[in-house]
Amino acid sequence: MKRLIAPSVLAADFLQLGQQIQMLNQSTCDWIHLDVMDGVYVPNISFGFPVIEAISHVATKPLDVHLMIVQPERYISRVQQLGARLLSVHQEACTHLHRTLQQIHDAGMQAGVVLNPATSLSTIEDVLEDVDVVMLMSVNPGFGGQAFIEHTYSKIERLRRMLDVAQPKALIEVDGGVNIHNAPLLFQSGANVLVAGSSVFKAPDPVQAIADLRGEE
Ligand code: DX5
Ligand code: ZN
Repeated sequence: MKRLIAPSVLAADFLQLGQQIQMLNQSTCDWIHLDVMDGVYVPNISFGFPVIEAISHVATKPLDVHLMIVQPERYISRVQQLGARLLSVHQEACTHLHRTLQQIHDAGMQAGVVLNPATSLSTIEDVLEDVDVVMLMSVNPGFGGQAFIEHTYSKIERLRRMLDVAQPKALIEVDGGVNIHNAPLLFQSGANVLVAGSSVFKAPDPVQAIADLRGEE
């Protein structure tokens, strides 16, 4: 399966945001990961739609929007208007998850569901046919630069087995604490997309860091 890299703009230098997006355009990265936090669902506030809109005018790679907010269904059409390719919502934040995933599809985007480290895979068993991406948080959401949770490897393997039966085309995305040391084993375990914030933007050469994370296909 293809190995995709999605740098997380949360770790970018916001004073140089245009240049940072141009750097991603020129890199081999596949998607641009955008973390929206509301200070309620997670204990932090990041950036919102005006910033994503500005990025969308410059970015030449697909936008991968990760909503860490309560009632994410309120903003599906807003995200669609910004031209996002993929919209991911947390299982834990959706009262009617199936409906929300349908609404994302109806809006013409790919639908992703996200699970926190403490949330069991069984909670999404009944919506696997309705998703394009399952994103496993490998840190507790809210902040960049946290340490990777090792339990994620076995969760990826179990999820891959579930998807092989229910939705073989769905991609597994892993978000949080991804770096050059754990990336090879994450891909081997069955991950398809690695989100990386600090390990890309804090690297001396971010373009090289993106290539190194992907490694040998
Ligand atoms: C965390 C965010 C992540 C974050 C990853 O809540 O969802 O996307 O930016 O940052 P790193 O790669 O630094 O852990
Ligand atoms: Zn994220």
